[in-house]
Amino acid sequence: MSDPGSPVDSGGIHVPVLLEEVLEFLQPRSDGVYVDGNLGLGGHAGAILAKSAPAGKLIGLDWDDRALALARANLADFGARAVCVRNNFAELPQVLDGLGIAAVDGILLDLGLSSLQLDGGERGFSFRGSEPLDMRMDDRSSETAADLLNKLSRDELADMFYYFGEERQARPIASMVVEDRGRQPFKTTDQLVDTVSRAIPKRFHPRRIHVATKVFQALRIAVNRELDNLVKILSAGGELLKPGGRICVISFHSLEDRLVKRAFAEDRRLEVITRRPLRPGEEECQINPRARSAKMRVAERVAEW
Ligand SMILES: C[S@@+](CC[C@H](N)C(=O)[O-])C[C@H]1O[C@@H](n2cnc3c(N)ncnc32)[C@H](O)[C@@H]1O
Repeated sequence: MSDPGSPVDSGGIHVPVLLEEVLEFLQPRSDGVYVDGNLGLGGHAGAILAKSAPAGKLIGLDWDDRALALARANLADFGARAVCVRNNFAELPQVLDGLGIAAVDGILLDLGLSSLQLDGGERGFSFRGSEPLDMRMDDRSSETAADLLNKLSRDELADMFYYFGEERQARPIASMVVEDRGRQPFKTTDQLVDTVSRAIPKRFHPRRIHVATKVFQALRIAVNRELDNLVKILSAGGELLKPGGRICVISFHSLEDRLVKRAFAEDRRLEVITRRPLRPGEEECQINPRARSAKMRVAERVAEW
């Protein structure tokens, strides 16, 4: 399946993307405090903790309780140096406040899905097979992908597909969704794949990606309010860093990367370290095919502004 987000795995195990580069830019130190806003299975977090031994601390956030349970187990050897919190990274200022931490030495965001979520086969992120159209990374939130498909107006659906999926066939797809749900409400991923395939004339079916890739991306972004959350953490990030502290953001599609680029450029507290985004090398992409779309941008908190 071509990339619907950020998951990177090899044989079912989540492999952290751009790991060497993250360590090089964050330079974890033993007296440092670091944040991983997308803890996932704790791959990057474990490497940051190992590098910042013996005393470096890591605050890891994930809003998916299943990911968090695995991360806790994977990071257990680091004891109290690893603090795992179930929360949205958009709430990072409040989380740090609650822990009595005013500012940190580094923040990492590795956006999107883990392979656990993508390949789990039960949340509808993949367009292979038939899964419930859920797409919530945090199962405490109320609206699923099926809810949106079944309730949004034709125009709202078209806007969602166009703006969050950059899908040029947004209008015909929205019309077909409205027509199909009149007969039977959307429940499963195969229903949606079938609707999208029929809405787009065969000659416009993309060759390099699955015909439903962009629609799935759009729904996932909408269900999880991914861009809103990213804007919130990016606007708070500069304030939460100590002078000289760095923020590294790994994104997996152009909508995210544009937001990161703009936020770094507009934040007077930050100096951009990577003029152009860093991409994984050919070797990493061969081991981790899903790393291909990754882009990392890094900025540093300036002393005075
Ligand atoms: C690509 S994975 C991170 C993998 C991790 N870096 C590793 O090496 O194991 C992204 C994780 O971020 C979580 N996530 C996505 N958006 C989030 C948000 N707004 N707040 C908290 N967690 C989020 C997802 O649940 C997922 O577990």
